[in-house]
Amino acid sequence: MNGINKVLVLPNGVLLKNRIVKSAMSEALADEHNNPTQAQIDLFAQWSVGGAALLITGNTPVDRMHLEHAGNFVLDAHSDMKQVSALVAAAQSGGAKVLVQLAHAGRQTPEAINAHPTSISNVKLNLAGYGEPVPATEAEFGIIIKKFVHSAKLAQDAGFDGIEIHAAHGYLLSSALSPRINTRTDRWGGTLENRARLALDVVRAVRAAVDPRFIVAIKLNSSDFQKGGFDHAGSVEVAIMLQDEGVDFIEISGGNFEEPTAYQHTSKNGSTKAREAYFLDYAVAIKAVLNIPLMVTGGFRSANIMNDAIENGKTDLIGMGRPFITEPSFAAKLLNGTIDKAPAIEQDFPPADTLPRGAVLSWFCAQLALAGKTGQPDLSLSVIEGHESYMQQIKITTDKWIETRRQ
Ligand SMILES: Cc1cc2nc3c(=O)[nH]c(=O)nc-3n(C[C@H](O)[C@H](O)[C@H](O)COP(=O)(O)O)c2cc1C
Repeated sequence: MNGINKVLVLPNGVLLKNRIVKSAMSEALADEHNNPTQAQIDLFAQWSVGGAALLITGNTPVDRMHLEHAGNFVLDAHSDMKQVSALVAAAQSGGAKVLVQLAHAGRQTPEAINAHPTSISNVKLNLAGYGEPVPATEAEFGIIIKKFVHSAKLAQDAGFDGIEIHAAHGYLLSSALSPRINTRTDRWGGTLENRARLALDVVRAVRAAVDPRFIVAIKLNSSDFQKGGFDHAGSVEVAIMLQDEGVDFIEISGGNFEEPTAYQHTSKNGSTKAREAYFLDYAVAIKAVLNIPLMVTGGFRSANIMNDAIENGKTDLIGMGRPFITEPSFAAKLLNGTIDKAPAIEQDFPPADTLPRGAVLSWFCAQLALAGKTGQPDLSLSVIEGHESYMQQIKITTDKWIETRRQ
């Protein structure tokens, strides 16, 4: 049994040297023109030598008016392709492969960036700081699909090994899948086939436009975990539809901004100690209907749980996020047996219900920025200090972004 150390050949023939993947984490380190900075490039150079077979960038918008954060790096006709190629070279310098995660934030675009973002409907996000979404017209869907294709082709030109389409966590493609958000009565709403149309059309158009060896993956919710949202039965069916469109693997996560299930935080002193690998049970039903590889992300920390999941055919790839922030090269140690558990600093944090909403996530975002800018995180920062520093950082980056557009 050599679980996470096994190689994996993807359907398009590309070989991954082991089963560990750094999942997408929004670096928010781009400059005011949304080009990658040296800090972001340095981060990927660190991760590349860290042992993971595959690195996935943070969400990278295909449309400048639909960012998740003013510091997102964008791939479009205005991108500085020299910087983008430098990012790719750094990410591959230690032998890892790298995908760019292409996204459209839809109604989850912050109001300061766009007060009227294009979405699947006019159903507003139930959180402060987000504007009044406008339902996409038939013509706009065509434009959005073309933007995904254009960004994918730019990614291929820049040397990325492939893309991951973000259809999870409440972003545009994910919100389209949700009957709670997608209230349309035309061919983009109603039945599951109609709600899946946008994601399927994007995959089909991208797959047709790129080289067969270019990886096309997708991140999908196992469920939104919201009443009336995209549910598990729907997720199993959509996974089959995506497989039929030729994706090379599907990554499973869950939740959205309103229901942030993807970043659960197991606290040793919390009364409800969450399990590890919290989407794995959901993923098993999806894996059972697929013949392409599956990646599961969320809460994996112990080598024995990862090895068991691989050996027992519950997943093919293990995605991890937060451990890469606190220790960029932990994967190599996990693979050679020097450690038997990935860093899990969040387990020492106070229970989530005693902290401001999103504080643990913002602590990690602040550390990610620090790791890029200074070469290492500052683990002495308390959750509250990290949270507050990240809130300030968002304001500074957003103000600069708005100012640049005024000039
Ligand atoms: C700082 C941070 C930023 C994230 N940004 C993204 C993102 O841009 N796209 C995405 O699909 N997931 C994003 N995630 C979610 C991770 O990919 C992953 O699903 C989640 O952290 C759970 O895995 P973990 O328990 O190993 O951290 C982010 C997570 C963190 C901590």
